[in-house]
Amino acid sequence: MPVASPSVPPPTLPQLIPARRAAIAPFIAMDVMREANLLEKAGRSIIHMEVGEPSAAPPPLVREAAIAALGGQKVGYTDALGLFSLRQRIARHYRDTYGVAVEAERIAVTTGSSGGFVMAFLALFDVGARVAVSAPGYPAYRNIFAALGIETVELRTDASTRFAVTAEMIAAAHRQKPVDGLLLMSPANPTGAMLGDLQLREVTELCDRLGIPFISDEIYHGLTYERPAQTALAFSQRAIVVNSFSKYYCMTGWRIGWLVLPPEMVRPVERLQQSMAISPPTLSQIAAEAAFDSRDELEKIKEGYARNRAILLNGLPKLGFSDLAPADGAFYVYLDISRWTEDSTQFCHELLHQAGVAATPGLDFDPTQGNRALRLSYAGAEADMVEALRRIGDWLARR
Ligand SMILES: Cc1ncc(COP(=O)(O)O)c(C=O)c1O
Repeated sequence: MPVASPSVPPPTLPQLIPARRAAIAPFIAMDVMREANLLEKAGRSIIHMEVGEPSAAPPPLVREAAIAALGGQKVGYTDALGLFSLRQRIARHYRDTYGVAVEAERIAVTTGSSGGFVMAFLALFDVGARVAVSAPGYPAYRNIFAALGIETVELRTDASTRFAVTAEMIAAAHRQKPVDGLLLMSPANPTGAMLGDLQLREVTELCDRLGIPFISDEIYHGLTYERPAQTALAFSQRAIVVNSFSKYYCMTGWRIGWLVLPPEMVRPVERLQQSMAISPPTLSQIAAEAAFDSRDELEKIKEGYARNRAILLNGLPKLGFSDLAPADGAFYVYLDISRWTEDSTQFCHELLHQAGVAATPGLDFDPTQGNRALRLSYAGAEADMVEALRRIGDWLARR
């Protein structure tokens, strides 16, 4: 093999230029997690409160189903829309949990809800479409929109509506300049805020009246502490529901979620998924089917979140964090830090490096006002919550 002479410099290769669609904002929580993992690898003790990830393993039935599948049958492709038995089991979940009839044929299994978003956005929106989301809100919505050429329309929420988007806000935004879609979550990330049943009904019916597609991200269903969450499907079969096995079912890394679609959207999503994913991960689909039969274990895990939530909601105000968002559901608290800083990125950087607590800057969730906020996830161990409060308190006193 010819070896280049060291005296001849290698030809400079022209640099590749990333496409403009790739110039999206980073998902800061993921960047913080990478940095926290590096510190941990270097021997530092880190409490992970930066990503919304259950620390618990999925229930035994889930793991056993995956192991049994590995031991025997071929793990091949499934139908592009997923295993029919899983789609049927998800349909039963809607009957059992909400009393809502959904045909299995309307369910598309996806690669996490993240994969579901891409399918739903591509199926519904053309380049230049305007889609309304809450601010603060889940960063990936904005980032995926940017990559797909969809314009984000911010619906700003604050304590005056308990961080909930109301039908009036949507109607006003639509009057100002028509929107082509609405995407909301309840319980919400990063605030934990929930829409009341009446509010959800008003929003759903308004969208139907105005002809706006409504995507309801229900990924935090099951993780509510005051009252159960209602599905948008209870109010309209035209709503598109996104859900996932990541959060309540503790299956983040299995990358498995689902969409519930109106009949006319099933074939478009099927065509997209055939070519963009072929099929969702088969092993994860087999395991996910067992997740629905593990309610007792999952409720125990949720009781742990409820204890963590109580520890933080009680302890954080004592450290001076007086303005906490509602935290009705999910496993997040969103804190006002304006008393200490106007730079949430720097604040979180110091908190990680000096106190060993990984938190996500509010800037991730709110590009305009998030410099005065941060988010803590309480999906970890109870002892970690107590230790995090101690570390944050000591650090603030030293600052
Ligand atoms: C509101 C919301 N939707 C969707 C997701 C994505 O979850 P997954 O792709 O693991 O289903 C998250 C993850 O944090 C989230 O907070």
